[in-house]
Amino acid sequence: MKNDLLTLKNEALKELETLAESADIEQLQQEYLGRKGRFTLLLKRIPELPKEERPAIGKLANQAKEELRKAFRAATDALTAKAEAEISVFDVTLPGRRPPLGHVHPITQTTEEICRIFVTLGFRVVQGPEVELDYYNFEALNMPKDHPARDMQDTFYVSDNVVLRTHTSPMQIRIMENQPPPVSIIAPGKAYRPDSDISHTPMFHQVEGLLVDQGVSFGDLKGTLTTFVHQMFGAYTDLRFRPSFFPFTEPSAEVDIRCVVCRGKGCRVCSHTGWLEILGSGMVDPELYRVVGYDPESISGFAFGMGVERIAMLKSGLDDIRLFFENDIRFLKQF
Ligand code: PHE
Repeated sequence: MKNDLLTLKNEALKELETLAESADIEQLQQEYLGRKGRFTLLLKRIPELPKEERPAIGKLANQAKEELRKAFRAATDALTAKAEAEISVFDVTLPGRRPPLGHVHPITQTTEEICRIFVTLGFRVVQGPEVELDYYNFEALNMPKDHPARDMQDTFYVSDNVVLRTHTSPMQIRIMENQPPPVSIIAPGKAYRPDSDISHTPMFHQVEGLLVDQGVSFGDLKGTLTTFVHQMFGAYTDLRFRPSFFPFTEPSAEVDIRCVVCRGKGCRVCSHTGWLEILGSGMVDPELYRVVGYDPESISGFAFGMGVERIAMLKSGLDDIRLFFENDIRFLKQF
């Protein structure tokens, strides 16, 4: 009897080792420990033993049974753990996890939108240096060293003759220097001024425009910018040309659009004027043609420059320019 018990136990353990499916393990367990299992049947014969042998065999039988139970449990647990581990590494039935995908910054989006409009009007996109010679940023644009207009655009100096450009207007000179008329370009890019408050950041973006040809009039300037405003802000957006001054255009005008927030009634955003300034413009000052070697008598042209942040803010109703550059993902996600 003792031998039978141990043999049967070892047989069961051995068989168990070869199994790799939980269903098989269960079946094997039934085969040995089930109600009519071989081990169970053996135990039922204990009462037939001589009385003095029963306690020792009974104890042995219980130990063997317990050992078998544990072995079956361990085998099942091991299988489950293995299956779970496989699932958590690679479960082909789960939907894929998308890596977070960023998108183009709202300022870049707006720049691209502005450029797209002018490209359809026949303008070519060009880009130039942000670290600029004093000559291109000021001097050639009719702002000699002692010119008071420089005060409006005090800047970051890299050295006496090198600055971070305060606007994209130096591109007017760079382009005209390099090619004969006709010229029609837009120049998007960064500009820098030592200002910092809710509507100014030391680094900001502009889009410059320049068109020079024979017989270009102020009417062409108005038509071009009106088309731009209508495409950018909607076909029914009112705009007005307000006399202004820039050393490199004559005459000069600033363009205002009807306040997009209050529709002209007057509100905080438009300082209760009903109008919002969006760009500076004018007819190219003949002095610039002399500087680049064009003949001022045979050609004329217009130029304009707009702040990209300002346009992006007006389009989306923002009142703090700094939001664009804080890199707060909750803000950027909304564009
Ligand atoms: N450069 C000017 C500015 O930054 C804008 C401007 C560009 C005005 C071209 C006239 C012509 O304020």
